[in-house]
Amino acid sequence: MTDTHLFLDDERGKDFVQYSARMAAAYHQTAHYMTGKPTGPMESLEAALRFAREKKVDAVALTGDILSFPSEAAADWLLERLEKLKADGIPYFFTSGNHDWHYEGWPGSDAAKREEWIPKRLGKLYPENADPLAYSVCVKGVRHLFIDDSIYEILPAQLDFLQKELAFGDPSVVWMHIPPYAPGRGVGFGCGHPAWGAGSDRNWEIERRERWREGGHTQTSFDFYRLLCESPNLLGTFCGHVHSTTLDIVNGKPFVATEANARGAWRLVEFRPMAK
Ligand SMILES: [Fe+2]
Repeated sequence: MTDTHLFLDDERGKDFVQYSARMAAAYHQTAHYMTGKPTGPMESLEAALRFAREKKVDAVALTGDILSFPSEAAADWLLERLEKLKADGIPYFFTSGNHDWHYEGWPGSDAAKREEWIPKRLGKLYPENADPLAYSVCVKGVRHLFIDDSIYEILPAQLDFLQKELAFGDPSVVWMHIPPYAPGRGVGFGCGHPAWGAGSDRNWEIERRERWREGGHTQTSFDFYRLLCESPNLLGTFCGHVHSTTLDIVNGKPFVATEANARGAWRLVEFRPMAK
């Protein structure tokens, strides 16, 4: 599940209203993409969890922008529900999106803000001792890598992590917020996107953050992308951010993105052995 955009807040957030107001008013209610019925983020998240229970899934993966800003009230509300799910035998794995940790207009680079607000507000949503920037879990023989690309870029330690994890040779899947580049997709972002950078950044003033890097992606992000595309045991990537259901096949690998949860959607992913 992805991009729920929970906006609830309480008195603990009142000193931060100047940084949260725009996103607190976003994605409140939209029509369910199939039924047309109005649905809001909280109802939608509850419905997704009901679905997970009904289907008795092996795990729930949350790929970012579950919160619209780092609200303590929203993090607590979410944690309570996810912990109940875990107590019922369904583990959950969380990675951040570009809004989960972002107070718009808060000073500093996105990397610095992520480093500040994840531990302050979201730390409890990650597995114990997990590094929020990159951690892995094995579920029924599949290695799931949760990698935080919510600043649009990859850090050297995350590239090392991907290399080491893929070197185990297990069938592996990457879960992250922003989908990697797919030629022809028609967006100006994504890890490995050749045109990403200051020139393709349309929202930096609206989102009150530093503009994307002048000169485009670093070699680290390009190397990470290449590894995704070329590793035979990487089955595919599952992401959010784009608020629509998309499937791109890059070098034979599915790069999937899922509908925003505010529109009442989540996806069931099944991993099966390949017939020889
Ligand atoms: Fe996003």
